[in-house]
Amino acid sequence: MNLNSVLFTSLTLAGALVASAASAAPNWAASPAQPVTLFYPGQSSWEWALTTADHPGAEKFKGGKTCFACHNGDEKNMGDLMVTGKKNEASPISGKPGSIAAKVQFSHDADTLYVKLVFAEGAQPNSHMDPTYATKVTMLLNGGGVPEANRAGCWGACHDDSAGMPSAGGSNRTMYLGKTRLALSRAGGGDALKPAAALAPMKAGGYELEYWQAHLNPGAAAVAANGVIFDKRTESKPTDVTASASNAGGTWTVTLSRKLNAPGAIPIVAGKKYTVGFAIHAGHTAKRFHYVSFERSFALDQGAADFVVK
Ligand code: HEC
Repeated sequence: MNLNSVLFTSLTLAGALVASAASAAPNWAASPAQPVTLFYPGQSSWEWALTTADHPGAEKFKGGKTCFACHNGDEKNMGDLMVTGKKNEASPISGKPGSIAAKVQFSHDADTLYVKLVFAEGAQPNSHMDPTYATKVTMLLNGGGVPEANRAGCWGACHDDSAGMPSAGGSNRTMYLGKTRLALSRAGGGDALKPAAALAPMKAGGYELEYWQAHLNPGAAAVAANGVIFDKRTESKPTDVTASASNAGGTWTVTLSRKLNAPGAIPIVAGKKYTVGFAIHAGHTAKRFHYVSFERSFALDQGAADFVVK
């Protein structure tokens, strides 16, 4: 390698470092962090929540009330109940904490949305379900086109027959959206999909969720992943989400970001309300053995939302 190419290489590297440092430093001070409690939901599915005989909130939810409106402040108690197997959990993990208290903060700059979660996961028994990652942090994003997620966040995609759920019958079915199925019963929607001619316009009309994820091990760089949930969960390759994380004394600080406009992704525009839900898999858990939040909303710059992101 001659000196010119060494110089060229280092200049290019310096440029790349400046560029990534600039986009990795949003103005967090502009939008305050807010508490979000993630709780252990056991096997409480969408179908369970909509069944009056199972869930006292079913009728009012169907009448228009949101999950969060009824349950705001209950999350810790709900998690403590279900994690022990006293309700909606057939195979509890001994010694697992019932909830995680997180601080969530959003920010954006000209072209990128950032979301930061700060939380201590507590003493997590190792479930050995995910051999690779100790912790996974997920945000589910709804551009408004999934009515069930507008009022129920993650529950819009959580069905009674997905892997590990009561009606799964050994299936490895992922999360999915109910209207992609020919019919939805108390046991979920099974595998019978509406015809392609019906599915395509639903998807084109925004009936789809997106997820952003950070895969974590203490002391190692975060690994980003993202994808969509429609008739199933599909990972996007390559990912258009960026993740960074640090762990100090057991407290994680995890930042996820993506361009406001990424090809094929939900466009994020000022003034519009988006619904999100958060999930944390801790203790090497996988699939349903996570903590989840009730739904929250955000809007860029202005609007009526839980988080107004400056
Ligand atoms: C009208 C108020 C209301 C709404 C809306 C509502 N719930 Fe509930 N939910 C309740 C009540 C009441 C209970 C029973 C609490 C108890 O037995 O102490 C409950 C229980 C639960 C439980 C079991 C844990 C526990 O503490 O008993 C879960 C899980 C749950 N709700 C999830 C949801 C989800 C998900 C939604 C939205 C799809 C939702 N709820 C909407 C009122 C509501």
